[in-house]
Amino acid sequence: MPRQYSITAEAIAEERERVGGDLDKVDVARVVALDDLEMREIGPGDVHMKILAVSGEHNVDHAALADTVNITEMRGGKIYPGNSAVGEVLAVGADVTRFVPGDVVLTHCIGEPDEFGFPLRIWAYDQPDSIGWYGEEAVVRDWQLIKAPLDCGLNLWEIAALPLRAPTAYHLWRRGLGIYRLKVSEEKLPKLNVLSFGGGVGELFLMLAKAEGHNAYFCSGSAERRSALEKHGIEGIDQLAFNRFAGREDNKAFVAECKERTGGKGMHIVCDMMRGPVFAAGLACASRQGVNVSAGWQLSTGINYNSAGASTKQITLDHTHYDTIEGCEEATALYGKVFKPTVHSEIYAFEDLPRAMREMHEAIQTGIPIIRVAKDMPDAVKGLLD
Ligand SMILES: NC(=O)c1ccc[n+]([C@@H]2O[C@H](COP(=O)([O-])OP(=O)(O)OC[C@H]3O[C@@H](n4cnc5c(N)ncnc54)[C@H](OP(=O)(O)O)[C@@H]3O)[C@@H](O)[C@H]2O)c1
Repeated sequence: MPRQYSITAEAIAEERERVGGDLDKVDVARVVALDDLEMREIGPGDVHMKILAVSGEHNVDHAALADTVNITEMRGGKIYPGNSAVGEVLAVGADVTRFVPGDVVLTHCIGEPDEFGFPLRIWAYDQPDSIGWYGEEAVVRDWQLIKAPLDCGLNLWEIAALPLRAPTAYHLWRRGLGIYRLKVSEEKLPKLNVLSFGGGVGELFLMLAKAEGHNAYFCSGSAERRSALEKHGIEGIDQLAFNRFAGREDNKAFVAECKERTGGKGMHIVCDMMRGPVFAAGLACASRQGVNVSAGWQLSTGINYNSAGASTKQITLDHTHYDTIEGCEEATALYGKVFKPTVHSEIYAFEDLPRAMREMHEAIQTGIPIIRVAKDMPDAVKGLLD
């Protein structure tokens, strides 16, 4: 039986009890546990794949912490997490024409699309009965897969960093820019100031901005991640110098820094996947007509702001989620051209996945965490393992 990670409601409850309910002390590695999974039979529209590599995703952290909702309990007490993967096709059902055995593929995380293609629910999170890809093998429907662009110039680990984060960033960027351009045309202001806070989605968002010729600023607590982005012409701002916006004085100093760097203008587009104390800082550094986009709530689901202040500055807050399947395909075409993700210095072994999740939770990684699942890699990717 293939090995597969799971999260159970009992493990969450036990860990919460161990730390006396203090979520800051939860050890995510005690909650994500190695399990077995009996694979379902392959149906006519299915693809059976071997998982090669996966990336650590923050929704797994949310599931293990049960900080936004207790999704594991809501789904009956057990989930199999992991909604970003690169795999090799082992077999296809009789009706599958898009893939053949040997193809290397990516997943997207749409569980079920709404009438316009946007996800109603996310695979391996709130989609009922969905089984994630933190495992050795999987059976999925063919519409859940996209061919991996193996000749895009990225190595396998960099490719594995992108299936969830790149479409999210791609949609955020098009939304933020589109809204801003409704207010201020390219003729009036061709070059914008674009800021994002740390994290994988944030860095990809800035790569899109930079590729289109804008000024891009990455406010992160990690010196390694800032320096990786500086190589792409994206300016780093040390978030720790502003105590991760713990107090009013920190926010004031951060706004002053942003103003200084932008000739007094501030940020035209801000990406904030964090919320919590980051939200006020992101709003305060916005320029007039600024747009604040988010698809994340890593630190808090709620936000509070002065509507009058936002109105007089003509500020727009926009909420997005994951892209459509077409958007995922478009984002995949930008791998290597625009998206050159920063991967954490250690490629984790499959058995070390819980530790990878713990270190992601602690925000101590130097880039996006990647877990090598397959020991034996297919020939198609053997040249991409550096
Ligand atoms: N809606 C969607 O489709 C979607 C898709 C992807 C992610 N998300 C959500 O978006 C959020 C971010 O995801 P991600 O994949 O970009 O993150 P990630 O790559 O896992 O990185 C998390 C990062 O948060 C950064 N961070 C920035 N400000 C922080 C602060 N004040 N306190 C603690 N950490 C801070 C840390 O970087 P520094 O230490 O460098 O600052 C850390 O590396 C998560 O909540 C995730 O669930 C949503």
